[in-house]
Amino acid sequence: MANEKIKLLVVASESVPFAKVGGLADVVGALGKELFNKGMDVRIVIPEYTCVQDYIKENQISILNSHEISIPLESGTAKGKVDEINYDGVTYYLIDNPHYFKRDGIYIDSKTKNDYSDSLERFTFFCKSALEAAKIFDFRPDIVQSNDWQTSLVPVYLKTVYKVDPFYKSIKSILLIHNLSYQGIFPVEQFTITGLDWKYFTVNGLEYYGHLNLMKGGIVFSDTVVTVSETYAREIQTAEYGNGLEGITKNKAAQNKLLGIVNGVNYQEWNPQIDIYLKQKYNLNYQLSSFENKKKIKELFLKEHGIVAPNMRKPLIGMISRLVDQKGFDLLFEIIDGLLKDGIYFTLLGTGKYEYETRLKAIKEKYPEQALVFIGFDIPLSHHIEAASDIFLLPSRYEPCGLNQLYSMKYGSVPVVRNTGGLADTVKDGKTGFIFNDYSPEELLITLKKAVELYENSHEKWLKMVETGMNENWSWDRAAQKYLDLYKTLKDS
Ligand code: ADP
Ligand code: GLC
Repeated sequence: MANEKIKLLVVASESVPFAKVGGLADVVGALGKELFNKGMDVRIVIPEYTCVQDYIKENQISILNSHEISIPLESGTAKGKVDEINYDGVTYYLIDNPHYFKRDGIYIDSKTKNDYSDSLERFTFFCKSALEAAKIFDFRPDIVQSNDWQTSLVPVYLKTVYKVDPFYKSIKSILLIHNLSYQGIFPVEQFTITGLDWKYFTVNGLEYYGHLNLMKGGIVFSDTVVTVSETYAREIQTAEYGNGLEGITKNKAAQNKLLGIVNGVNYQEWNPQIDIYLKQKYNLNYQLSSFENKKKIKELFLKEHGIVAPNMRKPLIGMISRLVDQKGFDLLFEIIDGLLKDGIYFTLLGTGKYEYETRLKAIKEKYPEQALVFIGFDIPLSHHIEAASDIFLLPSRYEPCGLNQLYSMKYGSVPVVRNTGGLADTVKDGKTGFIFNDYSPEELLITLKKAVELYENSHEKWLKMVETGMNENWSWDRAAQKYLDLYKTLKDS
């Protein structure tokens, strides 16, 4: 099979099931596995954070090989090791260095609530280690695929310091942009940490308004840039969504080196028929008793969390989200009171911005009989919320892809989303969900009310929409095929 010949090294700062902050982790783990299933030789490199070590121990995953590495950094040589493990068939190289990665958080210092102050040094070490790991394990990839700013130095190194080494020469690079608004911007004084020559600190390289910008470097130096939806690939070429990099992305698109591929879903993990976190499973056939289980799950969920006698005629609106500006909380705060006064139920699971956490807790206190707010990161609970909710809300200001609307459709929880990025590419207005255009509380309210109205008064139509959504197929198979086509073209170019 031709696929077998393509060797891919994926470099990322997160991957399920080892380390997850957001959707990046789902994509790295699931896409890697799907490409492996399609016959590719794919290896994934991630940092060996404390949570990764804990996962390996708890699940008794063996370290198959371990090699020491020495990475020259500005601060001196940093020593570490690369541990090889196999997870579900896929080879992972874990970059171990206690100084950089043995910490409570992945990116954020739990004490200051800010990014770790040595972020640039950590990810410089990681990017160099990932490239070294390939050599140590004698795995010469055809393509290296990096993800977001944390690994954006990989394509830069391949085109600069590493290209003199025959092992790395002619390796192609792809940068996957999951979110352009996090760019890895650092003060110019830190540029020397990267070990790059100053000649790359220019407007055509890594310089950005006098600062170092890693994402910009990644876009400029990679052979191809992929974003996680087609609409987002177009949006990031505009001033509204380009976060100051629209000139660079437009240029990349003009050279046919920018494209969008909508993410997929791992239906082994996100499927109400086999979901390991659900006691009661259910499926599409709502005539049969199994779909009744969805109602039971909702009732039980509300009761277990203190809503003793829920009115089952009222919908439960669910959200699972990082609590950040991107996700549309300013709109939600303007309209939620009115909706709760109308008797709906609301549940949210999330963690992030302190101000949002506080305001959400206040909603819970004001409406203890209707609002269930969970501040924290909890994977089993995220599955319960998908299953229990009738409506799933994603009013994002921008959304590169978004995964929860895809999960929601499978769980029969009708998504209400804004017309942007991957939400626009995956939800069909009036068929599988509801879409609003303007980023305004008025439009959100009108649209949510439409959904609530349909739920309360047109049972058959509601079930039709649920059914259509549950029938959608957003498996990784489709997306992985598109990646494979891209790899073939790139390899032959
Ligand atoms: P983003 O990557 O921007 O956060 P996505 O929709 O692509 O958005 O992916 C978010 C992923 O993270 C989903 O799998 C979602 O279920 C999960 N998630 C987000 N917040 C939490 C949380 N507090 N607890 C558990 N899972 C969460
Ligand atoms: C990012 C985006 C999200 C996307 C995810 C996975 O975190 O915010 O929209 O689904 O990456 O690609």
